[in-house]
Amino acid sequence: MDNRSTFATKLGVIAAAVGSAVGLGNIWRFPYELGQNGGGAFLIIYLLCVIVLGIPLIVAEFIIGRSSSSNVGGAFKKLAPGTHWNVIGYMSVLASFLILGFYAVTAGWTVEYLFQALKNGFAGRSPEELRDAFTSFSTTTYTPIIWLFIFLLANYFIIVGGVKNGIEKASNIMMPILFVLLIIFCIRSITLPGASEGLSFLFKPDFSKVNSSVLLRAMGQAFFSLSLGMGCLITYGSYFDRKTKLGKTAFTVASLDTLVAILAGIMIFPAVFSFGISPAAGPELVFVTVPNVFMQMTGGYIWSVLFFLLLTMAALTSTVSMFEVVTAFIHEEYNVSRKKATIWIISLTFILGTICSLSLGPWKEQTIFGLTIFDLFDYVSANILLPGGGLLISIYVGYRLDRTIMINELTNDHSFRIWYFKPLIFAIRYIAPVAIILIFLSGLGVI
Ligand code: TRP
Repeated sequence: MDNRSTFATKLGVIAAAVGSAVGLGNIWRFPYELGQNGGGAFLIIYLLCVIVLGIPLIVAEFIIGRSSSSNVGGAFKKLAPGTHWNVIGYMSVLASFLILGFYAVTAGWTVEYLFQALKNGFAGRSPEELRDAFTSFSTTTYTPIIWLFIFLLANYFIIVGGVKNGIEKASNIMMPILFVLLIIFCIRSITLPGASEGLSFLFKPDFSKVNSSVLLRAMGQAFFSLSLGMGCLITYGSYFDRKTKLGKTAFTVASLDTLVAILAGIMIFPAVFSFGISPAAGPELVFVTVPNVFMQMTGGYIWSVLFFLLLTMAALTSTVSMFEVVTAFIHEEYNVSRKKATIWIISLTFILGTICSLSLGPWKEQTIFGLTIFDLFDYVSANILLPGGGLLISIYVGYRLDRTIMINELTNDHSFRIWYFKPLIFAIRYIAPVAIILIFLSGLGVI
């Protein structure tokens, strides 16, 4: 592909990559995973996963993407022709659909909440009423599916708009605003009565609560939040120009993503304890606590509108990045127009999303391994497919990829020096595969 587009500016590269990383994973999934898996101890293990596994693997994906300037399928055809490494491409496509299935449903919930906020629907409601409202909304048959459809439609327009004018523009505007708002909400939350209990739940580690399933979930959350392990960063890396510094970009993206997750924790846990909600409440956590916080703020109406608007947009920049993996793959490998590819992919996602949504309500009794389909898609993608993809990527880059390609990518063809080549290689070759395999085996109960 000669006329493949690239992101236009340095800021655009960061905004798009951060736009992919920062999303419901940080503000919705991170707090409830932390709440269900031991609080502060989870946070520490999570941070270790980000530093030791996350950053090196982000760099690895960027290297594959930019050196091949191809989608997930084409990348391995170019770099490792005639081998089976392109299985990573197929795994990526599968993971994209599973994640999109439940993620788009949740994103639909944020649109409903935006709509509620606009109608001033939270005003004067008690914490219990807000919780009941969430439960009855998320388990009804039609409304969540309608919001799912509307959310998917928005994705369609951004993806068809292309890399520069769709993805990059949207991210540039929304990401900075999201940061500022989160900080304001953190300040309000930590000044609620009883906030210190929430902060100590978040920051005080109690390692007696750590077991192998907590390790697996912390690793899964790190992959999920950093958009790792399913070719998302390979695809975005393929849109970087030759001046983008891969190591620095990876570090910046991981730091900002982690900062947003911690800010979300600071916003949510004091409120959880202050309003007597269980920290282990699960997926409803954000949807119940956050409206409570707003109702305690002067100007709660406008804050809640802004918040759900931005949360929707944060979700949007993330789903767009997942769709882009499959869109680029189908468009480039099978010569289907971007538009046609997008229509097919979004339709399939709508079907999967509908199934996920119904699995929380009318089909609640149909469980697989004790999980609803919604939870199953979430568990399998985050805890199995993403770390599995990360494992293959680390082995490929660590043992198979030509060293000169790697050095050229890391130094932009020797235009500057880097100090971290050795530790990076060490992390990619040894730490990442060994850690992923061990956590896998112990989390799945094999050892
Ligand atoms: N990281 C995003 C979030 O936290 C979700 C996401 C986008 C993702 N692209 C991904 C997760 C690729 C896994 C893989 O909301």
